[in-house]
Amino acid sequence: MFLAAMVGDERVEDLRRRKATARLGGGKDRVDAQRAKGKQTAAERIESLVDPGSFVELDPFVEHRTTDFGMDKKRIPGDGVVTGHGTIDGRPVFVFSQDFTIFGGSLGEMHANKIVKILDLAMKVGAPVIGLIDSGGARIQEGVISLGGYAEVFFRNVLASGVVPQISAVLGPSAGGAVYSPAMTDFIVMAKGTSNMFITGPEVIKAVTGESVTFEALGGAQTHAAKSGVAHFAAEDEKDALRIVRRLLGYLPSNNTEAPPRITSEDDPDRMDVDLAGVVPRESKKPYDIRDVITRVVDRGSWFEVQESWAANIVVGFARLDGYAVGVVGNQPKILAGTLDINSSIKAARFVRTCDCFNVPLLTFVDVPGFLPGTAQEYGGIIRNGAKLLFAFSEATVPKVTVITRKAYGGAYDVMCSKHIRGDFNFAWPTAEIAVMGPEGAVPIIFKKEIEEAKDPEKREQELVAEYRERFANPYIAARMGYLDDVIEPPETRPRVIKAFAVLRTKKETRPSKKHGNIPL
Ligand code: HXC
Repeated sequence: MFLAAMVGDERVEDLRRRKATARLGGGKDRVDAQRAKGKQTAAERIESLVDPGSFVELDPFVEHRTTDFGMDKKRIPGDGVVTGHGTIDGRPVFVFSQDFTIFGGSLGEMHANKIVKILDLAMKVGAPVIGLIDSGGARIQEGVISLGGYAEVFFRNVLASGVVPQISAVLGPSAGGAVYSPAMTDFIVMAKGTSNMFITGPEVIKAVTGESVTFEALGGAQTHAAKSGVAHFAAEDEKDALRIVRRLLGYLPSNNTEAPPRITSEDDPDRMDVDLAGVVPRESKKPYDIRDVITRVVDRGSWFEVQESWAANIVVGFARLDGYAVGVVGNQPKILAGTLDINSSIKAARFVRTCDCFNVPLLTFVDVPGFLPGTAQEYGGIIRNGAKLLFAFSEATVPKVTVITRKAYGGAYDVMCSKHIRGDFNFAWPTAEIAVMGPEGAVPIIFKKEIEEAKDPEKREQELVAEYRERFANPYIAARMGYLDDVIEPPETRPRVIKAFAVLRTKKETRPSKKHGNIPL
């Protein structure tokens, strides 16, 4: 009625013309060029991301106010970023989507102001922020003002960290300053083939170091998902990237005062999985895939791995147990024997902290022979990096349930959410081996003299290894001390951890009040 009554009013016609102009972005040629690269426009991306028809745009008329470099003749409504709010699975989210067709999605003062407005609103409302990144970085024509704009965004990212989930989908270039806002969000999803992230591009690298490198090799999705660990997901294309963002949000609450959403599970919480009995090989050194344990314990189809291709000697990801979201951490015996090294400690520590700040309980599977030995690890700072994981598990106050499937040796036993650092329920399978070190390492040290003096030193050593294994490489000494709450049969793991998390749902644990801890960064 109201709209019909306004038809014919030239001021409304003018408004409609202005909105239509704003929707054109940087013009047909640039939009065509964007599509030719396999990329959608900024507005189309938002439509693919949020629930159909839910998006409400804000600030479509914002323009820059620069006059340098002839910019006064190039003002485009929206200033290179589409911002607003919508819903995902019915829950409110705030979104900004950079438009590469307008000044290469570069960030100047007003572009930054639009993002800042979204971040401020999201904080007030308690809703996640999703950034769709496609940007040449700081808008060169605006000089230091664009640097100031970036810093205003960065500062908001830090304020919002641990308050509302922040997810970045990098769907084109993310160059220079454009990398640091994603870097401070909780998750980075990159699209294979069309996205890249770098501080300095191939030309600058060539000039400074002489190295020749392509955009893809320097900062493509695979590079950051497998080599640098910057990206959490390498999606097949940008539509897949947006699907990943939607799925990820399903495991997270809207903000840090809420619990993650529960869904109705089709999987019986009392389901016993008899195949679990055969997953851990009889031979202590034989590898197996910890994901064969995880996927048999959690709700069918709920396992959602994070940072799959980086530091694969530890596995992290989200899953559901009886419909409730959990974060899962597991040593991966298949890679580097499941040892903890610098990268795996960093990866798991970050994941544990993400779960803790968003009230996602932690389920930890342990099969760890210790920290990875070597000068590369020591010189690289395994001491301070390994400490990150110890710190993260210790400071986490969400419900924590640990299952030791096989090895839990040395410091790594302590680190992997042991009872001593406040695991709420710690279980072990009968195949567990819990000691200061494995028999092959321990025997030559503690029986050095006896072995040297034996008639057949090799045979004596083997006997002593067998004795040590019999005495120490089992879960019962730890169980006797109460360090384990129970030793359980592998098939009963699912019902037992579901019952454990159920009773922990009302868990409250306080820690000494302080400004913040000092995690060894
Ligand atoms: C202004 C920019 C721009 C920028 C791109 N454009 N980057 N305009 N500021 N930072 C414009 C181009 O002039 C061009 O405008 C349009 O965007 C498309 O750019 P092309 O180069 O034609 O596209 P393409 O070949 O796809 O290359 C994309 C690119 C390249 C790789 C991103 O544009 C590039 O290298 N840009 C500079 C990246 C960079 O070094 N950024 C760092 C800035 S300093 P027309 O009108 O021709 O369409 C920085 C520091 C901040 O960010 C630090 C804060 C901590």
